[in-house]
This record gives sequence, structure tokens and C-alpha cells, in this order.
Amino acid sequence: MSSAQAVASVPGAEDPLGGPSARVAALEVVNLQKRFRRAGGTVVKAVDELSLRVDPGEFVVLLGPSGCGKTTLLRSVAGLEHPDAGKVSIGGQTVFDSERGINAGPEHRNFSMVFQSYALWPHMSVFNNVAYPLRNGRPRPSRSEIREQVNTALQQVGIAELADQYPNQISGGQQQRVALARAVVKGDDLVLFDEPLSNVDAKVRDQLRYELLAMQDRLGFAALYVTHDQAEALQLADRVAVLGEGSIRHLGPPGEVYSRPASPYVANFVGTANTLQGRVVTSDASEVVVETTLGQIVGPPPSAADLVDGDDVMVMWRPERTTTSSQEQATNSWPATLVRSSFMGSYIEDLYQADELSLLVWRSEGSGGVSDGDTRWLTVEPADIRVLKQD
Ligand SMILES: Nc1ncnc2c1ncn2[C@@H]1O[C@H](COP(=O)(O)OP(=O)(O)OP(=O)(O)O)[C@@H](O)[C@H]1O
Ligand SMILES: [Mg+2]
Repeated sequence: MSSAQAVASVPGAEDPLGGPSARVAALEVVNLQKRFRRAGGTVVKAVDELSLRVDPGEFVVLLGPSGCGKTTLLRSVAGLEHPDAGKVSIGGQTVFDSERGINAGPEHRNFSMVFQSYALWPHMSVFNNVAYPLRNGRPRPSRSEIREQVNTALQQVGIAELADQYPNQISGGQQQRVALARAVVKGDDLVLFDEPLSNVDAKVRDQLRYELLAMQDRLGFAALYVTHDQAEALQLADRVAVLGEGSIRHLGPPGEVYSRPASPYVANFVGTANTLQGRVVTSDASEVVVETTLGQIVGPPPSAADLVDGDDVMVMWRPERTTTSSQEQATNSWPATLVRSSFMGSYIEDLYQADELSLLVWRSEGSGGVSDGDTRWLTVEPADIRVLKQD
């Protein structure tokens, strides 16, 4: 990587007309591509023609299974990986452009990064770890400014009293707080996170998530945050980008990704879903009807009018969108036998069997009054049905 190359301004970033569309992105990735050649010669497309924009102050979460390219994308943004093609700009500065031969080194890119392994200096105290980016930054603040900024950052993550300790003297959760303090101390507008909470235990993780959100509210940085934990993604994100094999399969607010997933891949990866295969019988402006092993299922009108009669589709709905009754309802109602009820803490998960098909129903505790072996009618409103073309 050639760090000597200049950091260029993005053409058009200063739009004389102003307005929201002219807002400079905190991060813009355009048609980024990164391939790896594995031992043996096979080529993996780790990042495949991927484009993504993160606005100032926005929290975007990259969610996807192991090996789908999350870390490679983050490392490409950071300048730790040399992509094959595409562009990256941070705060309006082009830091990578394959066509123009621009590839700024990490030290010339304005961002901070938090890793899964806390990556603290073991021979430095907590204070000196957090002060490190300030002492090595340009311009370098005065000693008293450094002291003040480090103390503020340590207070923000609730570990001011640990300033003189060394990393091996504090817990994993505390070490990750040090890493967070170090990431925000310089006040960068973009912070990259690669699974920062996956090494801390569940309770500390929940707490750190809230603290991270509070810190982001206060400081206003934009975040690109990698996780493979869907609950974490839904909780933290302004927008979630669901990745599969190096490309974005769905980018949208958490509620949209959960309720209206773009494809079977997204539906299966985010949340729990009841799914079955089917074929479109009719599709018009008012509804879509799909033939399935449960009979005909009615769904809402397809949004993009992209379903035609005869299409092979996947029908899906969420367990909490199912109601049960002792009588058949007018639409989307099927008899099923309760196999097992599981207490899940905040809800009950009922597993039903409808012929060959297993279906999950979530209900609140105290509702229902069903016993194993009972037969009930399961009903789903057409509006809660998603009909998705096969990937
Ligand atoms: N240096 C490398 N050499 C060869 N292949 C690599 C290299 N780095 C990553 N890959 C491959 O690129 C793909 C994407 O890897 P990446 O580490 O970005 O995945 P990830 O989504 O971060 O996964 P995880 O959730 O397990 O961290 C994988 O198939 C991986 O095997
Ligand atoms: Mg990774």
C-alpha cells in the first residue's frame, strides 16, 4: 500500500446548491471488489461490487454469516486491505480509487477502529493506551489537553478509576471499554467496529450496547459496525446491511429488514420465520395467491409487481404474527397439532405440526391454554404474509 499518495477531494462534494443531497457522506463505498486466491488456486470474491453510503452520525450495521466478507470490507475501508477495484471516500476525501491510482495508507484516513480482540498495548497503562492516538496524531495536543481528553473519554465509558491499571489487570469487559475510549478520544467522525462485543459475556454485552448508543448520541460519530448477531444488529442500527457472499442482499431500517425481507436469504438470516415453498396462482393489485402444501395462501399485493403466475416462491411469516383458535377462520387458516410448548422467558414458543410441516407460534405467557396433542386452527393475516421470489 502506498501511503505517500495524496488524499484527493471528491468532485462535486461541495455542491453550490446545498441541501440535504449535498451532505458529504461520512463514508462512501462504490463498486468495491476484493478477491482472494486460496491455496490450491480457487478464487473467493470476498467483496463483490459492493456500494454503501453512511451518512454523518448514522449507525450502519453489517450483518451476515461467517465468511461473507464483513471483515474484508471493513479492512478495505481502513486501508489494511488493498481492494482490486472501486472507490472509498471518508468524509468527502477519496482514500481509495482504483482507476485514479489512489490508495491512502491507514494513517492518512480519518477514522478510528475497534477490534474484536481489544488490541491494547500490554506494556502501557489504560491512560497511555487511550492517549496513544492523540500523542501520535497531527496536530499533537498539549500535555494538559491530552490529560483532559483522555480523562473525559475514560469517564464516558465509566472506567476513570482504572486509568493507572495495565490491560492484564482488568477484565475483558473493562478492556473493551478502554478500546472504546481509545476509539472516540480523537473525535473522529467515522468509527469502524469489527464484532467488538463478541468476546464479552452476555450481561456486559447488553450493558455495553446501551453505553455505545449513548456515546454515539453524545459524540455524533458515524459507525460502520460488523456483527453476526442479529439481535445486536436490530438493536443498534439506523440501517442494517445484510451481506451474503460479498454483496449486500438488503439494506434498510431494522423494522423493514425484519418484516419485509428482500429475499428468502434475508428472511432466513434475520429472525425466526415459518417458511414453505409454493407457486403463484394469481397476482394482481389487491393480492397474491400462492399454491402450497397447506392449500392456497393469500398475501398482500406484491410491491414491485415482480411476481407473475407460475413463479416459484417462498412464503414466510413470523411466529408472533400467528393467531390460534378452535374454529377455522376465513383466510389463511390451517389445522395443526401442538407438539411441544417451550418457555422462552418473555414468551412461549409452541411447535405445531400441520401434515409434514412444522410451524412455530409465539404467544405471551398465560395466553392460549393449549396442551400437547391438541388441534387448533392457525391463522395469519394476509398483510403479515411475505411472498418472496427464490434467490
Ligand atoms: N487473506 C486471505 N486469503 C485468502 N482468503 C481470505 C483471506 N481473508 C479472507 N479470505 C476469505 O474471504 C472471505 C471473507 O472473509 P472475511 O474474513 O471478510 O469474512 P467475515 O464475514 O468477516 O467472517 P467472520 O464472521 O467469520 O469473521 C472468506 O471466504 C475468507 O476465507
Ligand atoms: Mg470477520
